Amino acid sequence: MDNKALKALLNDMSLEEKVMQLVQIPGSEYEADAEITGVTRGQANEKVKQLAGSTLGVWGSKRIKKIQKKYMKEHPHHIPLMFMLDVIHGHKTVLPCPLGQGATFDPEAVKAGAAMQAREASADGIHATFSPMADLCRDARWGRIMESTGEDKYLNSCMAAAMVEGYQGDDLKDPDHIAACVKHFAAYGAAEGGRDYNNTELSEHTLREHYLRAYGEAVKKNPAMVMTSFNTINGIPATGNRFLMKKILREEFGFKGVLISDWAAVGEMINHGFAEDQKDAAYKAVMAGVDIDMTSGCYSGNLEELVKSGAVSEKMLDEAVLRVLNMKNDLGLFEDPFRGIDMEEGAKINEESRQLARKTAAQSLVLLENKGKALPLRKEKNAFIGPYANTKRLQSSWAFSGEDENTVTVFEAASSAYDKGSIKYAEGSTMMDQDAVTARGICHVDNWQEENDRLLKEAVETAEWADTVVLCLGEDSTQSGEATSKASLKLPEVQLRLLDEIKKTGKRIVTLIFTGRPLELKEAVELSDALMVCWLPGTEGGNGVMDVLSGKVSPSGRLPVSLPYTVGQEPLHYDMYATGRPKPENGPSEYTSRYLDSENGALYPFGYGLSYTAFEYGEPKLSAERMSAGETLTASVTVRNTGKMKGDTTVQLYIRDVTGSRVRPVRELSGFRKISLEPGEEAEVRFDINEEMLRFWTAEEKWESEPGKFYLWLCDNSRDGRPIEFWLE
Ligand code: BGC
Repeated sequence: MDNKALKALLNDMSLEEKVMQLVQIPGSEYEADAEITGVTRGQANEKVKQLAGSTLGVWGSKRIKKIQKKYMKEHPHHIPLMFMLDVIHGHKTVLPCPLGQGATFDPEAVKAGAAMQAREASADGIHATFSPMADLCRDARWGRIMESTGEDKYLNSCMAAAMVEGYQGDDLKDPDHIAACVKHFAAYGAAEGGRDYNNTELSEHTLREHYLRAYGEAVKKNPAMVMTSFNTINGIPATGNRFLMKKILREEFGFKGVLISDWAAVGEMINHGFAEDQKDAAYKAVMAGVDIDMTSGCYSGNLEELVKSGAVSEKMLDEAVLRVLNMKNDLGLFEDPFRGIDMEEGAKINEESRQLARKTAAQSLVLLENKGKALPLRKEKNAFIGPYANTKRLQSSWAFSGEDENTVTVFEAASSAYDKGSIKYAEGSTMMDQDAVTARGICHVDNWQEENDRLLKEAVETAEWADTVVLCLGEDSTQSGEATSKASLKLPEVQLRLLDEIKKTGKRIVTLIFTGRPLELKEAVELSDALMVCWLPGTEGGNGVMDVLSGKVSPSGRLPVSLPYTVGQEPLHYDMYATGRPKPENGPSEYTSRYLDSENGALYPFGYGLSYTAFEYGEPKLSAERMSAGETLTASVTVRNTGKMKGDTTVQLYIRDVTGSRVRPVRELSGFRKISLEPGEEAEVRFDINEEMLRFWTAEEKWESEPGKFYLWLCDNSRDGRPIEFWLE
C-alpha cells in the first residue's frame, strides 16, 4: 500500500477503530493456552478483541492463521492483526541466553542468530519480537541481567545493533524477517538494589554517558519498535516520561517507529503514584508519546473519550495510528496477512540452525581456570556429575517457545563423543535448596534430605570410579529472568556440599557453571582444577560444551560482566571512576576508597577468558602521539599464538581520557576484534581512533571531546595490559 492509500484508510476509520489500533491484548484472549508474561486484570470484551491492533504471546501456524482469518473477516476495514512474541534467544532452536551471546564478543554470530530466530518465528506466524534488550546491567542481583549482553555500553551497542539487523534484514517485507523492538527504554537495568521493577535515580550525565548508549546505537538500525520500561527515572515513570521519549528518543535519536509500553506499564503509573486513575494514566502515556498500550486496558477504556473531550488532539492520535499502520504495511501485512506462515510444518528446527546454535554455544563458554591443564579432557574415565550434567533445562525462562525435549544435555553429548565404558553419570544433588523461591513460586521436593543423601552417595561412588569429574553446577533457569532478583549470589548450599564431598575423593575436578547471572565463585575456584562458565547455553548446549571439553574447539568466550568476590560489591563494573583516593596497587591503603573485607575489583574482570593455547601480545604501537579533530590515529598490536593448538583471542581496545571537565572512567572499551590463529601464527590487529570516539557528555552538557592526554590499552581483558599515551589537540 502506498502512503496515499494508507492515509485514505486512516481517514476512513472511525474514532473507535483508530484507538483500537493502539491497543494490544494478550493472546490468551484468542487462545486459552497463550503465554502470559505478566499479571492480567480482567478480560477484553468482544469489541476489543475484534478491533485491537495487535496481540502477544500466541504462536503456531495453524492457530495464527485461524485467528487472523476470523479477525480480518470481522474487522470493519479488514486491517490485519499484528502478532508479537518474546523471541529473546530462540524460537524453536534456542541459542545461548543473551548474556552468553555477549560472551562471544562476536556481533556477526549474534546477527546470524537473530536472523535464524526471525526465520523460525515467522514460519509460526510471528511479525515482531520484543528484542533486543539493550539495558545496561551492572548489578548481578537483577535477574534480568541474563537477558542483556552485559555491563559494557560499547559491547551492548554492538550486540543490540547486530540483533536489530539480524531480525529485520534489509526489508521487513521479506517473510524470513520480523520486526525488532529495542527495550526497555530507559535504564531498566539500573533498578535500585537490583530489585526488579524498582526505581532508578540517575543523573543526566550517567544516563547519557552510559545507560542510553546501546539504545541509541540500536535505534540507528531502524528498529520497527521501542518499548518503554517499568521503572521510574528520577521520580518519573519511563512510560509517562516526556523527556525520555519526546526529547531523547524522538528528537535526538530520530526514532520514527512505534513506541509500545511494557506489559501493563501504562496502568502501573497509578501504583507509582503518578497517575490518578486509568484515564489519567492513558492521558499521561499518550502525551509522553506511547503509541501502543500493552495489555493495561487504559487506552481501550479511555482514549476515545480523551480525544472526544479534546484533551488529546485527533492529530496526535492520527500520528500514532499511522505509525502502527505503517508498521503493518512495512511488514507487507496488507498484501499478505499470512506472511511467512509455513502451513506445512510451522516452525521447526533444522540442521543448519542446530549447527549455528552449537557453534554459538561453544563460543559463549568462558574458561576461567585450567590448573595443570585439566582441560581438554583426557581420554580416561570421566564422570559427569551434578544437577546440570543431564538436564534438558538448558534454556532460560525467556525461551518458552523452545521445547526442552529438543535440547541436547551435556551427558547425551558426552555419550556421542566418548566410548560408553569411559563415562558415567550421577545427578549428585537436587538443583535447588529445599523451598527455594523462583519467579513462579516455591520449589518444594518431598523427602528432600533423604533424596539428596542418596544422590550424594551415588555421586561419590561415581567419582571414586573416575579419573576426572566434570561437575555441572549452577543456578536453576527459573531463578534468572524477570522478577528473579536475589540478595545472594551463592551457589545453592546443596551443590556446595556436593562440591566439597567430591573434592574429598581427590579426583581432578572440572567445574562447569550454568547460570543466567554472575555468581560468587570463590569456593568453586579453590576446589576445582578447571572452571568454566557456560551460561544457559540453549538447545545445542550439551554439544557446544562437549566440543570445548573434548578439545575439538578451544574456548574463546570472554566475560561480558565482572564476576564478583561477593554480592556486597554490587553494582560492580570495570568502567568506574578513579575517586580522589584510589586504592594503590601496592603500599598502604588506609583511608583510600576500598572495602575492609573485600577486593574492590572483580574476582574475574570484564573481558577475561582463557584459551587452550597461549597468546602473546606485543607492545601496542600508535601511528602518531598527537592528533587533532579530523585526523585518525592507528593503534596496532601484534598477537602471536605461542601454544600448540589453533585458537581465538579477542583483542580489546580500551581508552581513558585522563582529565576532563567531568571525570572519566578508568578505562572504557572502545573496540574489539576476535581473531583466529594457528600455532606459531601471528597477526597485526589495528584500530583506527578518531575524535568522535573520544566524545563524552561534558560539564557544558554537550556531547564533545576535550583536548588533552589519553591512555590506550590493547590487551585481552579490562584489568591487564600496559597503557600508552596519546594527545588530542
Ligand atoms: C517484560 C518485557 C516483555 C513483555 C511482553 C514484560 O513483562 O518486561 O520484556 O517483552 O512482558 O511479554
